[in-house]
Amino acid sequence: MIKFNNVTKYYSGGIVALDNINIHIEKGEFVFIVGQSGAGKSTFVKMLLKEEPPTKGEIIIDDMKINDLHRRRVPHLRRKMGVVFQDFRLLPKKTVYENVAYSMEIIGAKPKEVRKRVPLILSMVGLSNRANVYPDQLSGGEQQRVSMARAMINNPTLLIADEPTGNLDPETSWEIMRLLKQFNRNGTTVVMATHDQNIVDAMKMRVIQLENGKIIRDQVKGGY
Ligand SMILES: Nc1ncnc2c1ncn2[C@@H]1O[C@H](COP(=O)(O)OP(=O)(O)O)[C@@H](O)[C@H]1O
Ligand SMILES: [Mg+2]
Repeated sequence: MIKFNNVTKYYSGGIVALDNINIHIEKGEFVFIVGQSGAGKSTFVKMLLKEEPPTKGEIIIDDMKINDLHRRRVPHLRRKMGVVFQDFRLLPKKTVYENVAYSMEIIGAKPKEVRKRVPLILSMVGLSNRANVYPDQLSGGEQQRVSMARAMINNPTLLIADEPTGNLDPETSWEIMRLLKQFNRNGTTVVMATHDQNIVDAMKMRVIQLENGKIIRDQVKGGY
């Protein structure tokens, strides 16, 4: 599903954010990308989202070489992916329902489909009773659950999360992990960048550790 072949990323100023990365992630896997601040985790995520081009090397997602993917085809690539960030990134002037519905509307879903699917996904993340409130009326954990619902509403094959529990207390973090696990069990490949040691230790999933842009460990059922 995901292949990195000799991927290197330099930022201006001579910063080597990723240094000759080789990774193979199969469909249905749950993978943690761990490492200290500055190790290259977010850069790795940006490569997947095609937010930044690699300096060298090749990135393949679902047999699609995304390096030279035409600009017009990028929306097609993104449709395979749901994304969750540390800072939630909800639309402040839209309700919970509208935030999630909007993700379907922009890809041209029929209103009837939207009306059917949004309540379903809100119930999956336990927010049926919060559908008509605005993000600033929600706790951090609830906002992150909205952002999970939004990430999953179009049935992506890949869910990418960059420090999704970074702004949450431990208890709320576990709610998010439970949801990620549930989506993974239903077949979605999950790639999560984090430096949350307790979570990584408890989940016993594959762990890829970065340090100064290099992979220093790739372990099946690892800890932090
Ligand atoms: N847009 C950018 N321009 C220049 N340097 C950057 C940029 N983004 C990240 N970096 C640098 O690249 C390295 C890796 O950063 P990042 O991928 O954000 O790491 P992490 O997410 O693990 O904290 C760091 O040294 C960081 O300062
Ligand atoms: Mg980061």
